[in-house]
Amino acid sequence: KYPDKVRIVEVGPRDGLQNESTIVSTQVKIDFINMLTKTGLQNIEVTSFVSPKWVPQMADHAEVLRGLEFYNGVSYSVLVPNLKGLNAAITAGVKEVAVFASASESFSKRNINCSISESLRRYREVVDCALDNNIKVRGYVSCICGCPYEGPTSPQQVAKARIILFFRKILRKVKCDTIGVGTPGTMRMVLNEIIRKVPVQSLAVHCHDTYGQALANILTALEVGISVVDASVAGLGGCPYARGASGNVATEDLVYMLEGMGIDTGVDLKLLLHAAKFICDATNRKTESKVGRAISAD
Ligand code: HMG
Ligand code: MG
Repeated sequence: KYPDKVRIVEVGPRDGLQNESTIVSTQVKIDFINMLTKTGLQNIEVTSFVSPKWVPQMADHAEVLRGLEFYNGVSYSVLVPNLKGLNAAITAGVKEVAVFASASESFSKRNINCSISESLRRYREVVDCALDNNIKVRGYVSCICGCPYEGPTSPQQVAKARIILFFRKILRKVKCDTIGVGTPGTMRMVLNEIIRKVPVQSLAVHCHDTYGQALANILTALEVGISVVDASVAGLGGCPYARGASGNVATEDLVYMLEGMGIDTGVDLKLLLHAAKFICDATNRKTESKVGRAISAD
């Protein structure tokens, strides 16, 4: 039994662009997000308040937020790694943030320069402060199927369970196949383990498509009862600290699949294709979306 509706969280402006080696202009980012807003998407992750030394592409976070046309009913979230990022995000008027931990020690160290335990200590402060300020919080758990530095992650891995329980008071927990190595087999095992511990309604999935498994993995997540799915227009994405990771599942492909199954997404595919063409032209990239290649945006 599949859900009647799926809420898509568009992560293209953040996960998609953070990996671009050439700096994309602030105006292009703003125009891109404004185009996404008009497609019917209700959740867009627009930037990250991380260290500009670590991810220079996201250094213009506050300027990007200043330029957006905010639509009622659309949530514009940002990534924050610590209190410094949270405070800057609050000053910029952000109403939803995401913290990001990892099930793998090596990825935690490479991505946020600290151990899993230290990250949870920091995130406790960040989550408490965010909730005190009426800011919604998402919690990412990276590397649920495998780590670029440590290999496969076991479904029962203590760290994973610990992080998920730690995140229990926040709004939504996002399970991430950071490098796209998962298959429906590993995905089902991991998710079955997780839904024994936390309500399935609080879960979302975030699948990279390195091995072409993302749509199949998402379908597996829908089968266990998850109805919130991250995606990135044109299949952009990757993490500068996850060697070998490619883009997220393309939002166009996800919308095409879900609508074809009679599952409502509220997203206009034609407008999405326009946004995809715009960002691909601006970054001089070819779309990674199969639907984008099959259907012209013009
Ligand atoms: P650090 O070097 O250990 O931190 O980095 P620090 O506290 O020593 O600070 C270093 C400098 O950064 C200092 O500046 C700080 O002020 C500044 P200096 O004194 O040298 O001039 N700084 C900041 N500036 C702006 N905003 C901040 C901030 N924090 C410190 N928030 C840190 C630790 C966590 C900051 C760093 O490692 C970092 O920013 N990492 C982020 C990496 C990142 O963005 N990765 C990609 C996103 S995660 C991802 O893609 C996975 C995901 O998609 C899910 C999945 O697919 O699995 C979410
Ligand atoms: Mg990601």
